[in-house]
Amino acid sequence: MDVSVVILAAGQGKRMCSDLPKVLQPLAGRPLLGHVISTVRALQPVRICVVYGHGGERVTEAFADEDIVWALQAEQSGTGHAVMQAMPHIGADDIVLIVCGDVPLVRAETLAPLIEVAQSDKLAVLTTELDDPHGYGRIVHDIDSHVVAIVEERDATDDQRSIAEINTGLMACRARQLSQWLERIRPDNVQGEYYLTDIVGCAIEDGVAVVPVGADCPTEVLGINDKRQLAEAERNYQAAVADGLLEQGVTLIDPRRIDVRGTLRCGRDVVIDVNTIFEGDVELADGVQVGANTCIRDSTIGAGTTILANCILDQAIIGAACEIGPFSRTRPGVELADRAKLGNFVEIKKSRIGPGSKVNHLTYIGDTTIGADVNVGAGTITCNYDGANKHPTVIGDGAFIGSGVELIAPVTIGAGATIGAGATISRDAPADELTVERGRQKVIKGWQRPVKNKPRD
Ligand code: UD1
Ligand code: CA
Repeated sequence: MDVSVVILAAGQGKRMCSDLPKVLQPLAGRPLLGHVISTVRALQPVRICVVYGHGGERVTEAFADEDIVWALQAEQSGTGHAVMQAMPHIGADDIVLIVCGDVPLVRAETLAPLIEVAQSDKLAVLTTELDDPHGYGRIVHDIDSHVVAIVEERDATDDQRSIAEINTGLMACRARQLSQWLERIRPDNVQGEYYLTDIVGCAIEDGVAVVPVGADCPTEVLGINDKRQLAEAERNYQAAVADGLLEQGVTLIDPRRIDVRGTLRCGRDVVIDVNTIFEGDVELADGVQVGANTCIRDSTIGAGTTILANCILDQAIIGAACEIGPFSRTRPGVELADRAKLGNFVEIKKSRIGPGSKVNHLTYIGDTTIGADVNVGAGTITCNYDGANKHPTVIGDGAFIGSGVELIAPVTIGAGATIGAGATISRDAPADELTVERGRQKVIKGWQRPVKNKPRD
């Protein structure tokens, strides 16, 4: 039986107080809608139809690479009206699973039972019990505990408002039945909208059982309507990620102070200190240690490497047993071979650093290839940019660059060369020789320091 998924994502999200459409608000560095799309993909539906409206092209463009059927809901006249816009795209014999773009943390395991219920010709409604059900539609049962209605907060009586069981907004049923029910619902409620929840009444009229499927974990089905709920969802998400890392044996000095905005894969005996942020795809091999306040994006870090506090690594490939930081920054395109060292206040861009080489203090290295066992002295700068073009620097194996050297690219330093401190090197330096470039030191004897003029009266 084919399953089609409908994602409701047309709402404005007024309560976000933002120009960014609600479903594009980021959770763990990714739009809310992105979370929902990847979750439902795991159920292998024949199609995913997203009902969009508010934010228009911005929403479709954000997912241009995804295989999605887009259905425009030009005016947001309610959740039932939104589903109506999707129906022309859906096979009459399909099972339809309806989810919301603003319920991002629901898991595929939680959704699967809804599809099963729908396969037996019933209407499945995902519900949960909340200590504070305020704002949600309540599940009303009759005395035989059959579901008879879902009543919105605004339309509910005081008695109904005291019901803790709520509608998560997620449902499944057969497309054929859904189409008929949608034709029958009317916007006769406080908001003047077509409520999807009114299909419950239609199902009951038709003698179709309405089956509440309970979500085990209430936090995964919470809807996000404002920034407070977005922040709560972020913390819930991060707590779950941290828990997963602990489960695998990663040492987190404080599981409440790590943020993963993407995927973080860790080997054995990885230690991660506080206030660390991982973005995109990051891989930490066995024994990697990450110091406090470090951000790593789209990088792989080799076994036994130590990253000290306050480093920023972006698209780096770091070998094994390296030492980085504190306060190192690598910009995109950096490769460090095994045992290389980057020290404090060092910035590296688009460069390869060979095995065992050290760049320890206050240095800028750009567009450079450094061989093995090179020592780059404090304050060395590769002058790679002439204001119009970038030029390469090459430093051979075993070279020793003294402190305060400027290497004016394009330039090559031969293997085993020594560059005296303070040199401005604008021509290639030969291998195994000492190259100095420095004015002769002079002493001016008897020279007097200027003294401050006396103020005139
Ligand atoms: C809805 C449910 C409520 C449930 C709650 C769970 C209805 C009538 N109410 O209320 O029972 O407890 O979700 O979170 O279904 N949307 C559209 N087009 C529209 C209106 C909404 O696409 O015209 C989308 C929104 O973008 C959102 C979802 O539908 O993703 C839910 O809409 P929202 O306005 O947030 O509904 P709630 O008031 O939260
Ligand atoms: Ca909502």
